[in-house]
Amino acid sequence: MSEQGSTERVAIVTGGSRGIGRETAVRLGRDGYDVVVAYGGNKAEADAAVEEVTEAGGRAIAVQADVADEVAVASLFDQAEQTFGGVDVVVHAAGVMLLSPLVDLELAEFDRQVRTNLRGSFVVNQQAARRLRPGGAIVNFSSSLTKLAFPAYGVYAATKGGVEALSLILARELRGRDITVNAVAPGPTATALFLDGKSEEQINRLSSVSPLERLGQPADIAEVVAFLAGPGRWVNGQVVYANGGAA
Ligand SMILES: NC(=O)c1ccc[n+]([C@@H]2O[C@H](COP(=O)([O-])OP(=O)(O)OC[C@H]3O[C@@H](n4cnc5c(N)ncnc54)[C@H](OP(=O)(O)O)[C@@H]3O)[C@@H](O)[C@H]2O)c1
Repeated sequence: MSEQGSTERVAIVTGGSRGIGRETAVRLGRDGYDVVVAYGGNKAEADAAVEEVTEAGGRAIAVQADVADEVAVASLFDQAEQTFGGVDVVVHAAGVMLLSPLVDLELAEFDRQVRTNLRGSFVVNQQAARRLRPGGAIVNFSSSLTKLAFPAYGVYAATKGGVEALSLILARELRGRDITVNAVAPGPTATALFLDGKSEEQINRLSSVSPLERLGQPADIAEVVAFLAGPGRWVNGQVVYANGGAA
């Protein structure tokens, strides 16, 4: 056991190149995990994330994989197993958010969100269900928007509602395997996904939805993920809303 209470385990973190996934990759590295930083298109950021994990004390590699591509995701798990000997934890943080009222949203934007967020969760969870070792954990990403229900977030929130359903049912399907499956549902969190395209006024307004009167930071979410990935074994089949009390 390391000081932080985790054993030397192997984690794949999708969306590990940026934002919440990257912060989580570094946190798990600090907790003693070997980490596979899975990324979509941003190799430079993924390489920087690997460096950060290494500086934090973990071993890490970067692997490119579109989460909705089943061949690429199978190869991601192959590379994790070949490099580190197996996989214990999958943190599936990759996601996209495209905002528009339903009446105006282009079908291409609908398809992109469903493909990345919902199909991606299916593909990643299917590989995880086939390969995780006993004692493992899957941590998916929903969003507090499933409760906050802000206008313009409809399709994004719908994909996250789907992720919640997949997570809860997979937790039950894995009976007897000693693998937990949960979804974390952050509120507004200071990453590119949240900040890009918003005015200062919008950011200030959304920062105050939490009674703690600030925006969530990636480290706030990484703390919850680290708990679910390691010591939090008795939390299973749950959606954990991490939003400072916003919803
Ligand atoms: N930030 C928030 O306020 C907030 C709130 C609630 C829920 N969430 C959820 O939290 C998760 C992390 O979000 P974030 O804010 O950290 O986002 P972010 O900073 O925009 O990072 C998104 C990550 O997803 C990866 N990605 C996107 N499409 C991909 C694809 N098709 N295949 C593989 N990787 C892909 C990106 O990789 P590349 O850059 O390498 O392409 C990047 O690492 C998401 O599921 C998001 O929906 C975020």
